[in-house]
Amino acid sequence: MKDNQPRTIYLKDYKVPDYLIDHTELTFDLDPQATLVKSRLKVRRNPAADPGDSGLPALWLDGVDLELLSVSINGKLLPAQRYQEMTGGLLLAVETPEFELEVQNRIAPESNTSLEGLYLSNGMYCTQCEAEGFRKITFYPDRPDVMSIFTTTIVAPASYPVLLSNGNKIDSGTTQDGRLRVTWEDPFAKPAYLFALVAGDLQYVEDTFTTSSGREVKLQLFTEARNIRKCEHAMVSLKHAMRWDEEVYGREYDLDIFMIVAVDHFNMGAMENKGLNIFNSACVLASPETATDAAFQRIESIVAHEYFHNWSGNRVTCRDWFQLSLKEGFTVFRDAEFSADMNSRAVKRIEDVTVLRTAQFAEDGGPMSHPVRPDSYMEISNFYTLTVYEKGAEVVRMIHTILGPEAFRRGSDLYFERHDGCAVTCEDFVVAMEDANDADLKQFRRWYSQAGTPVLDVEDRYDEDKGEYTLKIRQHTPDTPGQKDKLPLCIPVTTALLGADGKELPLNQAGATETTLLLTEACQEFVFGNIKERPLPSLLRGFSAPVKLRYDYRDHQLQFLMRHDSDEFNRWDAGQRLALNALAALQVQFRAGEALRTPDALIAGYASVLGNGALDPALVAKMLALPSAQELAEQEGEIHAAAIIAAREFVRNAIADALKPEFLARYRQLDQRTPYSAEAADIARRSLKNTCLAYLCATMDDDALDLARSQLARGENMTDSASALGALVEFGPVEDAEQHLESFYQQWQQDTQVVETWFGLQSTSASYGTLERVQQLLGHSAFELTNPNKVRAVIGGFAMRNFKQFHKEDGSGYEFLSDQVIALDKLNPQIAARLVTPLTRWKKYAASDAGLIKSALQRIAECGSLSRDLFEVVSKSLS
Ligand code: ARG
Ligand code: ZN
Repeated sequence: MKDNQPRTIYLKDYKVPDYLIDHTELTFDLDPQATLVKSRLKVRRNPAADPGDSGLPALWLDGVDLELLSVSINGKLLPAQRYQEMTGGLLLAVETPEFELEVQNRIAPESNTSLEGLYLSNGMYCTQCEAEGFRKITFYPDRPDVMSIFTTTIVAPASYPVLLSNGNKIDSGTTQDGRLRVTWEDPFAKPAYLFALVAGDLQYVEDTFTTSSGREVKLQLFTEARNIRKCEHAMVSLKHAMRWDEEVYGREYDLDIFMIVAVDHFNMGAMENKGLNIFNSACVLASPETATDAAFQRIESIVAHEYFHNWSGNRVTCRDWFQLSLKEGFTVFRDAEFSADMNSRAVKRIEDVTVLRTAQFAEDGGPMSHPVRPDSYMEISNFYTLTVYEKGAEVVRMIHTILGPEAFRRGSDLYFERHDGCAVTCEDFVVAMEDANDADLKQFRRWYSQAGTPVLDVEDRYDEDKGEYTLKIRQHTPDTPGQKDKLPLCIPVTTALLGADGKELPLNQAGATETTLLLTEACQEFVFGNIKERPLPSLLRGFSAPVKLRYDYRDHQLQFLMRHDSDEFNRWDAGQRLALNALAALQVQFRAGEALRTPDALIAGYASVLGNGALDPALVAKMLALPSAQELAEQEGEIHAAAIIAAREFVRNAIADALKPEFLARYRQLDQRTPYSAEAADIARRSLKNTCLAYLCATMDDDALDLARSQLARGENMTDSASALGALVEFGPVEDAEQHLESFYQQWQQDTQVVETWFGLQSTSASYGTLERVQQLLGHSAFELTNPNKVRAVIGGFAMRNFKQFHKEDGSGYEFLSDQVIALDKLNPQIAARLVTPLTRWKKYAASDAGLIKSALQRIAECGSLSRDLFEVVSKSLS
């Protein structure tokens, strides 16, 4: 691992490009092992570049894994001494400030298992160029601040009747030898990372959308024939997203056609290529029989996310990859608000905050900790993180909260207008927000540059004589790798005060009952006058900032908030705090070898929630869900895996036993035989019903398991089937589980998405997903190490969502993961670098576990010849 260390790239070294590419003309002659790529570039010296003093600088073109065939300038073949092929690209001597460059090269899509550049998925050609995949297609200045008009011609055998690229189709025909030829032109200048090409034997569904200014846009969704009946939900979601962006942001679609393609082999969720979005099949294909409600909602949000990028990402793009959150943070905020408008706002917020607290906080506190706008990286693919995406979205949300919705809209209008067609920075976004509103976000900017999760410590006092209530808030952001002594941040803390009757107290003359306190100092006091009784504070409502908030709530106060807080998010959060208190106490008892004591306050709190028919069932389901083991781990200073598992199982069983009749009554009430609909109300009903079912089955009573058996047998929709099967796998007798799993597989083996669900049910099961089972699954005929979805379902499920089996005391789970990561790194570095994450947190574990995790990590490090992706993560985790 020592030699050939990858280079670190720094934001401070950014320089504008020496040359611009006004036009890019590409021709692809497709072949699995020898695709011929011809590129013709109109190159021009960048007037904004540093003129230097020694004439025209050489032109650098990025290029990786390419076979160079020829280089010509202005139609003349270039002699070899005029250019130099080096690792990572091509350096060309330049003689005139403007010229036409022609390069020919060959690539082998069939051998490309990195799923970056041009590759094959089930025999269909597709591309993934973000962030730096275009350099695996041809030699090019592969950086987002070089924007060009692309014209793309694709030539392929007649067995690939569908040939797609960005923009509009401007020509098509047949070559002399009977192959198909199609030419596309994208009228919008774009960076190479937004380029896309697809070729295959695909079917499509079509629809239209009429924009607010009356233009008709053709919408097409392409997939393999067997999936053609799974496109409707994505199409409906797309139309909703297009309307929403017009209504909420005033953003209209700009081309005459918008295409989506589903592919089975894909590293991430989806990609916003201009006019031709490419999706992971699992994030676009759905039918009630095959997809769970969670999948329906995920698809709705990802389809919207990629569509929204057309403005926040494509029309206005990033200057360099340090600015990634400019497009991702903003677009995640946009898609979250869209989903909130389409479904339950509180439930969407709860889900997003859960991810943030569980995984983003862990990232912020781990060895890869980085600011929303990183200062440096070795491999940019490693920075498509929860911090850049989710924390980045929280930063945009805070601007929205601080300025208010109308001012935020003025800011976004100015941002889009001012920077349309440009590659810009996070700073430009903040400046637009300031300029449009005459606002000052100077201190707020620290959110972009400081890593780590701030901790707020809140104390209060009430002066009865004066009628004054005071909140004293301290903020502190812990040190993170390479960053010490952080400055105070500007933190919006939305707050209300509840009286003894559970109602909000008025906070001013006008009778407002909620206010956003703006914290700017390390320690600050906020005084509320005219407060007639000692209030209970409802703090950080709606999770108004991505921080850890500490306030010493007593159990009875949390029960009170669970019943009365009018902020649904905080109502849920009170229940979470109650559960965390109970679970923390139980962990202490467990480690002291004491008998575990029944958490009565929590059970009482849950009983009141379960009996409350006035609450949205989706919210009730969330309120009844215990924090995951991963989330509990994130709470602890030092993680004792066995204590977490014992405490959590004990609490779950105690709740199940104590409230069995209530769960049964609610299950019966919600178990209606109505036809499937993906409407929010129906999703809510199924979600609570299946939460009840899981608790009922946790009793392991046969009558409860029979409910799951009959729900599975009815097979009305995948949400109900998968929940029932999951409960049986977790709590039923082993032979029974085996048999249900087997017949489920027999029924669904033709359906890739269901098989992925089936893999996940097993690998994540605390009782069933042992290491032996998971190893068996790797040998299953439906498993492919080259397919990221399957890897995530089996290996990822085990290592990231099966706390109990993965953290087996003998360290076998860690050994297993390191073996898999080493094997994967040879095929797909991006996936290997992601999968290693659970091993990177070793320092937080109690000594014996920490030692085992560390040695698993060291085994990887000692392998030599690691990819840049994996090297960066492993070396930073060991240092
Ligand atoms: N821009 C895509 C999205 O968030 C993700 C692309 C990720 N690519 C990568 N190589 N990590 O919608
Ligand atoms: Zn995105």
